[in-house]
Amino acid sequence: MSVMSSPSSLPTSDLFYQYYDALFSNKEYALEVAAINRLAKQWSSAKVGPVLEIGCGTGGHSLEIAKLGLSLTAIDLDLQMLKQTRKKLQDHKIYNVTLHHGPVENLEESGFSLAIAMFNVINYLPDSEGLQNFFRAISNRMLSGGVIIFDCWNGVAALRSPPGEKKSVIRLGEEEISFHLLSTTDLFRQRTILTYAIEVRDTTEKLVAAGEQSFMQTLWTPMQIMDAMTMAGLEISNCSPLHDLNKKADHNDWKIQFVGRKREQTTHPE
Ligand SMILES: C[S@@+](CC[C@H](N)C(=O)[O-])C[C@H]1O[C@@H](n2cnc3c(N)ncnc32)[C@H](O)[C@@H]1O
Repeated sequence: MSVMSSPSSLPTSDLFYQYYDALFSNKEYALEVAAINRLAKQWSSAKVGPVLEIGCGTGGHSLEIAKLGLSLTAIDLDLQMLKQTRKKLQDHKIYNVTLHHGPVENLEESGFSLAIAMFNVINYLPDSEGLQNFFRAISNRMLSGGVIIFDCWNGVAALRSPPGEKKSVIRLGEEEISFHLLSTTDLFRQRTILTYAIEVRDTTEKLVAAGEQSFMQTLWTPMQIMDAMTMAGLEISNCSPLHDLNKKADHNDWKIQFVGRKREQTTHPE
């Protein structure tokens, strides 16, 4: 992560976290969780829950899962993100979600009948070994017949037409926040670096804070994902465009969602 110099006393490295929900305010967390619940009921041979959420971020899905009354353990590598989740749950007076900081490989709990990793979590994994370890760690913590659901970039679509530049401006009370997304793609290594430049202005349009946050995304192809799942004892039940769950995904769909099922009686050394 890199941080630009700030014209205010606001710590610039916090800007991305502070405005994450504003940046993604068009994401329909409640609808996504309703769809996840339906898919889990459709594909699981076990009752839905307890749920393991990997990469909970600021807790958009966590909140909606907790509202359904399902038991939830949420985990994220990024402590700043987890703090936002904790605050969001407290604001909604939800106290029965277990939060963990760290990689799923270190999680001591198991026995989950549903695992989710929503909004590109697997694209944060830097290499094939990381992808395989990730699925193996999840699979080993799931009940046989349980379901895993995650969405991600479709590497085939993204490599054919790499992500470009995007600008958006959001008004939040007295503040105007502008986001400028830049991406640089290395086709050979299947990687994109995404950089969000964030500027906050007051009502007089004076710049009061600025910062930027970069992260690397691996553009996994569906075959790489399916191979890693299979090696971890997860059968592939479905792969659809993210918001068209009745269709089969193809090479044109940028965002795809997988449903997998833990095969009977499989554990794999981690
Ligand atoms: C784009 S955010 C999505 C957050 C949230 N699921 C949402 O939908 O808003 C991806 C999150 O995954 C987390 N993450 C990435 N790799 C992870 C891993 N191996 N284990 C746990 N969390 C991870 C990141 O820290 C980040 O918070």
